Amino acid sequence: MTSTQQPRIAIVTGGGNGIGRATALKFAEAGYGVAVWDLAEQAAEEVVSAITAAGGVAIARKVDVSKPEDCVAGVAAVLERFGRIDVLINNAGVVRDGQLVKVKDGQVVGQMSADQFQFVLDVCLKGVFNCTQAVVPTMIAQKYGRIVSTSSVVALYGNFGQTNYVAAKAGVVGMTRVWARELGRYGITANAVAPGFIATDMVKSIPEKVYNALIEHTPVGRAGLPDDIARAYLFLADDKSSFINGAILSVDGGSVI
Ligand code: NAI
Repeated sequence: MTSTQQPRIAIVTGGGNGIGRATALKFAEAGYGVAVWDLAEQAAEEVVSAITAAGGVAIARKVDVSKPEDCVAGVAAVLERFGRIDVLINNAGVVRDGQLVKVKDGQVVGQMSADQFQFVLDVCLKGVFNCTQAVVPTMIAQKYGRIVSTSSVVALYGNFGQTNYVAAKAGVVGMTRVWARELGRYGITANAVAPGFIATDMVKSIPEKVYNALIEHTPVGRAGLPDDIARAYLFLADDKSSFINGAILSVDGGSVI
């Protein structure tokens, strides 16, 4: 994994379920010490148990990424246990879909609420800002860091009913490029992954018709798996990926080409 004696340490936000869970397991398998952060504390603890049972090293912590104080306290706990932080995987995310304005028979019958908009921004955009700001002083002191954030293909192309989510995920692209410029000089890279359609709880409410259409528009002919994204995170987090900075890596089976 690394050329150093000490194992690298990675924080995975939203590490209790879906893509984050697969990521925590994959990093542990690759020899990283892993901090699994999630709002769902029990899910995070279960991931840690699985890692420990397989001979890996991990800690769980309840962190709400939308709260800066949770992120700062989480960083202190990781430093207390491991003494360093090499990788931050900004993976936690939520959806609260709704049309900007919904019209039926020529009448406005609904709209995305301000709360609905703000909630998704708080987790998917401000959460990425909060976690990154909390870990960067440590990475600067180490002169080493890998920040990998989760955008989405919808940030690049839009998606019906997702004004809030698309705004947040496009914001992640922008922040990643800023951090690539600001932090590169300290040995820190900032990149993002833009997953396509990945079969997790987040997308389980998609109607069958829409699901089938999504698969049809994916050249490789299948939905993505959490492990497909975990592999991309691991690649971008590698020591040897030091010249990849400010990149947005689509992992979508070719669905948007
Ligand atoms: P998921 O819903 O399976 O897992 C998300 C995890 O984030 C859960 O464990 C949840 O408890 C945690 N979480 C939610 N709010 C949190 C908060 N405030 N603080 C800390 N943890 C919180 O979702 P999935 O599919 O694994 O998504 C992971 C990332 O990938 C998200 O950022 C999502 O937006 C992104 N993504 C997912 C796609 C998909 O098709 N599943 C497509 C494109 C992007």
